[in-house]
Amino acid sequence: MKGPIRIAHISDLHFSKICLNPFQIFSKRILGNANLLLKRGRIYLNEKPFSLLDLFIEKGVTDVFISGDLTTTSQKSEYKLARKFIAKLQEKGLRVTAIPGNHDHYTSGAVRRRAFYQEMPKEVCNSSFALGDHFWVVALDTSMYTPFVDATGDFTVEIEKQLRKTLREIPAGKKVLLVNHFPFFNNDKHKRRLIGGDRLAKLLRTFPNVLFYLHGHTHRRTIADLRADSLPIVLDSGSVSHAHHGSWNLIDLSKSKALVEVFESKDRHGNNWTCVQKETFSYE
Ligand SMILES: [Fe+2]
Ligand SMILES: [Fe+2]
Repeated sequence: MKGPIRIAHISDLHFSKICLNPFQIFSKRILGNANLLLKRGRIYLNEKPFSLLDLFIEKGVTDVFISGDLTTTSQKSEYKLARKFIAKLQEKGLRVTAIPGNHDHYTSGAVRRRAFYQEMPKEVCNSSFALGDHFWVVALDTSMYTPFVDATGDFTVEIEKQLRKTLREIPAGKKVLLVNHFPFFNNDKHKRRLIGGDRLAKLLRTFPNVLFYLHGHTHRRTIADLRADSLPIVLDSGSVSHAHHGSWNLIDLSKSKALVEVFESKDRHGNNWTCVQKETFSYE
């Protein structure tokens, strides 16, 4: 890809469809559907991500990174909505990269059939690729099945080994954007943590070429430049579908500078996405 790189980082879309299948009484999905009926369905709106399509074109977006939780209970009907959204982005000429979150492998059945990889178009599951002349993208899948109210991820020793190998193989001089669903800091509720997050942080300290760490899961937008502590610039784009504080990040990358603009919409239908924060990062 030549020319400017403009990434739209979105996360936690949580497309939802209430499932009234009586067999779900035996499944964790009954909890997800009860939650949908009582609360979540009104908070995360299926139509809100679709409001971004024209805006992405207007802003010159070239790449869309989706850092997990595209669905709510990993149902086929929710994956169908996610595919429809991705297809619309692709029709507009945008390259889409996506990873699963804990909600995309919500039930033991979804984990067994590797639902995310079965349901998503192959090309969006690319886990390591060059981005223009100066950057490289590594997309990490740390999703796992969790029983009932848990929402943990797992940075297993096997994933650690693979990530170390991938990072070592990236051509010298490339700056890396690492995309994961979970933050590596474990300062949230214990049941929402990334198991092995401390090992991931330790690994990141040994790869200073990892410039950005993009994640979701918390549904709270955050920008934190941790380079003084030998860690990357952390970007949590928040949940794009949230009815009252939906947000996403526009990341404009050039060889020695990045501009990150945070867009937020308090409108239920995403009619007024407004830039609420701008940060510039310089690097060599
Ligand atoms: Fe989420
Ligand atoms: Fe999550």
